[in-house]
Amino acid sequence: MSACCTPDRGGMYDLSQRIRVEDKRLINCKAVDVNQLWPLKYAWAWEHYLNGCANHWMPTEVPMHKDIELWRSNALTPDERLVIMRNLGFFSTGESLVGNNIVLAIFKHITNPEARQYLLRQAFEEAIHTHAFHYIVESLGLDGREVFNMYREVDSIKGKDEFVMSLTERVLDPDFTTETLEGIQDFIRNLVGFYVIMEGIFFYSGFVMILSFHRQNRMTGIGEQFQYILRDETVHLNFGIDLINTIKEENPEAWTEELRRDLVGMIRQAVEYEIAYARECLPNGVLGLNADLFREYVQYIADRRLERIELPVQYRSRNPFPWMSETMDLPKEKNFFETRVTEYQNAGTLVWD
Ligand SMILES: [Fe+2]
Ligand SMILES: [Fe+2]
Repeated sequence: MSACCTPDRGGMYDLSQRIRVEDKRLINCKAVDVNQLWPLKYAWAWEHYLNGCANHWMPTEVPMHKDIELWRSNALTPDERLVIMRNLGFFSTGESLVGNNIVLAIFKHITNPEARQYLLRQAFEEAIHTHAFHYIVESLGLDGREVFNMYREVDSIKGKDEFVMSLTERVLDPDFTTETLEGIQDFIRNLVGFYVIMEGIFFYSGFVMILSFHRQNRMTGIGEQFQYILRDETVHLNFGIDLINTIKEENPEAWTEELRRDLVGMIRQAVEYEIAYARECLPNGVLGLNADLFREYVQYIADRRLERIELPVQYRSRNPFPWMSETMDLPKEKNFFETRVTEYQNAGTLVWD
């Protein structure tokens, strides 16, 4: 560890030396120095930041009148309404857990400016996602207390949320540090729990369910917002994978067989939580979807995530929803913004009194 890279605990810095690229590290570097981007070391973090900014959107840009009309009509079955409600219930509060984990737990320990720049952008995107659910509940005139309390009242949502909240709690412990081997390993558990499991597995059944309505040209306002969220989450997942893999490279002693076994166990447990959730959303099957298809899909998704952090695949299931990859790969210019109505203010258009 170089002199420039000593962990700080609030002491004064040696300001006589400029930052060198080789002094930058993702963890265990300066925690309260300025976020000095130049020279960039982790180009991927900056790229993800630029991608996030290029995808900017606001929920209130999405027209909801067709959804409101359909929701008020008798054209939706009770089972279809249940799928929509349970998904709003999970996402309306789940998004904020990711934001909390960034701001309260991991930001402090990620000691690299370009990665922090991305985390600041991501935290705002999570706020936008929470805003989207507030907007949907308000537009449809739903009982907000019911939707926003599902994480307490629906077992499978409670299970998923408690699973990730325990990971935030561990890093929030005042005695937590990444300066020990165990600390680095717990930090990796947190990152896998949030980026790979929460944003990479727990969100995906919901994406399939809501986008299935959208494919039938129903609830298209909610569907469009889910498309934007899915596109953002794809970048979040990609950043998380790069972050985890680079922390592994920089701290190879932490990537023990025991940790790898633990992470596979966590992902297998998460798959069961997600299957239970699909069952509670689809007790009778709707839209050609049923809980068995979700078992296959969640297992398929979990294998793809395992591969990306170099852990052994577990299930070898097929993808029953190949159209989901097309949805994810949808380029921005290809109709993605066709219903977009708002232009952002920029410096040239602001009018000052
Ligand atoms: Fe999100
Ligand atoms: Fe996210």
